[in-house]
Amino acid sequence: MSKHFAFKPAFAVVLCAATIVSLGNSSGAVAEDQDAARPTLADLMALTQLRHYKLWYSERMENWKLVDYEFNQLVATIDRIKKIYPETHSLAQANLITEKTEPAMKELRAAIQDKNNKRFEVAFNQITDACNQCHRAADVDFIKVRVPWKSPYNNQMFTPNPDSRNRP
Ligand code: HEC
Repeated sequence: MSKHFAFKPAFAVVLCAATIVSLGNSSGAVAEDQDAARPTLADLMALTQLRHYKLWYSERMENWKLVDYEFNQLVATIDRIKKIYPETHSLAQANLITEKTEPAMKELRAAIQDKNNKRFEVAFNQITDACNQCHRAADVDFIKVRVPWKSPYNNQMFTPNPDSRNRP
């Protein structure tokens, strides 16, 4: 009997410990999974690059519906970066840069609403400068972006009413 009673708490302790270990493991695994699922800053920057490009090219093609769509995509990507990486590297400086970029983003939105190519292009240049300012601040100044000059995306038609499969 006493053996039985002695066993019980010991068993309970073991069980408890096992539960803690397994809980520890599973929450560790969940954290690891979440880390693996989280895009890196470089992943999100590659998306930013894609949207920066598409925004410009759809404006060149005067496809204003697509311009508006890509602008919203760019804003959403930047918002995601701010949420997921509020502090990385230079992101304290980034806030500064965001402050600088915000007027240009506002101007870009206004230019899009106005379908004004000239206004758009001035603001787009300012945004591109802000990308590079942040890269310099974050010690990745070897990553230089520029206003593009041709489309690397041959698999998408950017004109609003493409009249041929071979046109841009
Ligand atoms: C808040 C600061 C900041 C701003 C603003 C910023 N970047 Fe970046 N960018 C970074 C940092 C930091 C890295 C390096 C990320 C890493 O490797 O961890 C980076 C990396 C990149 C890369 C390399 C990604 C790759 O995998 O090759 C590209 C391309 C890029 N940025 C494009 C842009 C474009 C386009 C803009 C503007 C629309 C922009 N960035 C604005 C901080 C910024």
